[in-house]
Amino acid sequence: MAVRFSTDAVREGLTTDFVGRDLEYRAAVGSTQDMARELANEGADEGTVVVAGSQTAGRGRLDRSWISPRGGLYLTILLRPAAEHLNALVIIAALAVARAIEGVAGLQTSLKWPNDVLVAGRKVAGILSESELVGEEVGYALVGIGVNVNVDMAAYPVTAPLATSIMTELGREVSRETLAAAILNEFEPLYLAVEEGKPIHQEWRARLGTLGKEVRVSFGQQVEEGLAEDVDSDGSLILRRPDGTRLTIAAGDVTFQR
Ligand code: BTN
Repeated sequence: MAVRFSTDAVREGLTTDFVGRDLEYRAAVGSTQDMARELANEGADEGTVVVAGSQTAGRGRLDRSWISPRGGLYLTILLRPAAEHLNALVIIAALAVARAIEGVAGLQTSLKWPNDVLVAGRKVAGILSESELVGEEVGYALVGIGVNVNVDMAAYPVTAPLATSIMTELGREVSRETLAAAILNEFEPLYLAVEEGKPIHQEWRARLGTLGKEVRVSFGQQVEEGLAEDVDSDGSLILRRPDGTRLTIAAGDVTFQR
């Protein structure tokens, strides 16, 4: 496995104006989210990216941990969006990752609501958005992206049935640097489009493999089952319950029903 990560190789692949232009790499960190938060508090520029070769305390959604061995790609993008665009960050990131994996690895991806990226029906990447509000304004937002790139998933039997890696699917390694640059190159124009009020929701909706399926959704202490009928413009899932009523769910965890 190529252990060394070259920030120069990422920079050479960038076509962005500001995303990734400040790029901090560490071989190992607790969480890139925490390192990016420190940089944000020190006044780092919008678009600053923290990349790690591995994480000892990687975080996932819903207070889960994110297993972060060497071979994966772990990065956080620091942004300062308008407050009304905060919810769109995970949609932007999911689209950027899906497009980048397709472009770099040639693998077909699908999205699982709200923001998992799947290959062959198994999770290959996850997205975590955290933010700091100052009054009603966004002080900063941290978009964390974890991709199972050159990770042997057989070494993680607990997650293996639900998760996969690019290497597992492709049968060969791919360059984490090329993939990182591709993600950032896809991310910036989508982010700028949203900040200009342009819609990106249609592509996200079209890529969501969740829609039209019978699902079970857990959110908070609640569990609901029904047909994943649609998503609204905020990114919430619209669930059609067996009794015909519709429920709008802002965030949760989906499992597919057989
Ligand atoms: C999820 O699917 O639950 C989200 C996983 C997000 C993982 C990434 S890895 C880079 C960044 N740093 C973290 O600690 N978490 C995110």
